[in-house]
Amino acid sequence: MEVIIAPDYASMSRLAAAMVVDLLNAKPNAVLGLATGSTPIGTYQELVALYRARKIDFARVTTFNLDEYVGLPVDHPQSYSHFMRTNLFNHINVPERAIHVPSGTTTNHAAFCDWYEEEIKAAGGIDIQLLGIGGDGHIAFNEPGSSLGSRTRLKTLTQQTIDDNARFFDTAAEVPRFAITMGVGTILEARHCILLASGEGKALPVAQAIEGPVTSMVTASALQLHPRTTAIVDEAAAARLKLREYYRWVHRHKAQSQGPHFLRTAEASLPRDHLAE
Ligand code: F6R
Repeated sequence: MEVIIAPDYASMSRLAAAMVVDLLNAKPNAVLGLATGSTPIGTYQELVALYRARKIDFARVTTFNLDEYVGLPVDHPQSYSHFMRTNLFNHINVPERAIHVPSGTTTNHAAFCDWYEEEIKAAGGIDIQLLGIGGDGHIAFNEPGSSLGSRTRLKTLTQQTIDDNARFFDTAAEVPRFAITMGVGTILEARHCILLASGEGKALPVAQAIEGPVTSMVTASALQLHPRTTAIVDEAAAARLKLREYYRWVHRHKAQSQGPHFLRTAEASLPRDHLAE
């Protein structure tokens, strides 16, 4: 796994956005796998800024979100559908018909999940999958114990995830208990996975995912089996990585050997003044 330690959240977000820009420059009809939660918000702000600056075009892009709470309609303020519209879709030119967020209101979960998998296949598979990581090491809503071969399905959330997400609701009792989520196996089929993590609260799950054993108890650790995963973590989230000096060394040497393109991908040419530092 490639591990990039970014100085801070803003820099992590710029890097992730730059990788999306690079993909769309090469493949304008790319398929993006998207995450919700606090972590990717800065990346979405970057992408919106780049779109407004006419440096990126989403007209031919297709998107698939990782997950959605069961029971929340699309316009519920805490639904992931609403989150995506507010933070990204309302501000860019991705066509409505190309947006896919799992349904929070379907009553036929199994059939819906099969359909979602088929839609991903029909779109040609996911080119870049953005991922956050939960306090318990989950990716999407693949809670500890999830099969590492799992597909899109209905999943019961753990108490830790309910507690972690209670900050978005008025009371913990309002946090849904179930979600529809892409499976670990679904995620591992993306061509490039980008795992983002920021803040000291993520230091333990990040270390477990990147340097611990591959285990269903930390579903993000399955990314170690993926041929192309880039983890972009800020200093605080990197704090418990044993090999962090090595990762920095690798990144410096890669920048030298791969030349200006790599550096450009990393940071240059991106506007810096619109993100709260
Ligand atoms: C959200 C998702 C979750 C989050 C994770 C981290 O679509 O798939 O796995 O990425 O719970 O959430 P934040 O970013 O809020 O810490």
